Amino acid sequence: KKGGYDTFMLKEIFEQPETLTDCIRGRITDDCRRIVLSGVIENKERFVHANRIVIVACGTSWHAALIGKRVIQEMCGISVEVEYASEFRYSSPFITKDDVVIAISQSGETADTLAAIQLARSKGAFVYGICNVVGASIPRSTDSGTYIHVGPEIGVASTKAFTGQVTVLTLLALCVGQMRGTVEEATVERIAQELKNMPIYIKEVLRLDDQIKNLSKIYTYARNFLYLGRGYNYPTALEGALKLKEISYIHAEGYPAAEMKHGPIALVDSEMPTVVIAPTDSLYDKIISNVRQVKARGGTVVAIITKGNDAIKEIADHCLEVPDVPECLTPLVVSVPLQLLAYYIAINKDRNVDQPRNLAKSVTVE
Ligand code: M6R
Repeated sequence: KKGGYDTFMLKEIFEQPETLTDCIRGRITDDCRRIVLSGVIENKERFVHANRIVIVACGTSWHAALIGKRVIQEMCGISVEVEYASEFRYSSPFITKDDVVIAISQSGETADTLAAIQLARSKGAFVYGICNVVGASIPRSTDSGTYIHVGPEIGVASTKAFTGQVTVLTLLALCVGQMRGTVEEATVERIAQELKNMPIYIKEVLRLDDQIKNLSKIYTYARNFLYLGRGYNYPTALEGALKLKEISYIHAEGYPAAEMKHGPIALVDSEMPTVVIAPTDSLYDKIISNVRQVKARGGTVVAIITKGNDAIKEIADHCLEVPDVPECLTPLVVSVPLQLLAYYIAINKDRNVDQPRNLAKSVTVE
């Protein structure tokens, strides 16, 4: 069942080239000019005339939602809000029939997300689901939706579902952007082509396995970790920290890098490693200054960087190189080394990574 791997989690990390192939299949035309998400196309009017989009989710799915917010705003010129499903209901949400509410859930059974959907529908919003488990409660209670089709995820820590959710959100952004006329055709073609190449890129990233296994040994006994990222990778910093917390039981905090100087920098010392997600993107120069600030305070830095960026190697203590992809796709390539780093640190500590203490795969209580 584990396909020769020691754990479900490792199997699920390593099958991401195939799960992303399945997730994309039939959704991008051969010429990469059109995105075919039937649930979106069949409800074109709701998306084209949407006043705004609100995304509700929990945990890792909420992190995917934060990435979705950026890519939808960039491609569709529409305001997107992201809410924890558990908070949404109690925040007197201002929802109208002109809003589109997107609910993201791997299991399709998360009680808070289900309750948020019911509230949104009662206010007349059009509710769209992005789920993995076919026929679960959430896909049955939405108006329409898209399955991520990544296959059963057994490990409690979400890995392949996260990359599937980000992929579907990117497809949705491109599809809605085309319908609204807010994205250039050349942009759609370029990103669609790179999404098709993504399984190859993920295979390349998985070759970091040995390097990450060795690196993990240095950090097994760290008691606190800081994860920093900006822009598209602020959410991946949150996700990297969550992965480490839930399976290794090491305290980790994810932060948007520039917020570091507003508090968390006080924690930095030689005992607390910082993982910096620093692909060569529009915010690269800014994040490099954050790396320097950590180093100046005696901190150690593990940086996830774009292949070929040698300058940063002189500043960071350890670098993990990922392929150069369009900015909105960087979360896909950087999240795999973050998953592997959390995984090996947890294994070094002899943790039960598939079933961490106190956690359940689906949270069916509010
Ligand atoms: O099934 P869902 O996507 O609705 O689950 C949401 C969270 O419970 C889930 O992502 C949780 O945070 C994972 N254990 C994270 O790895």
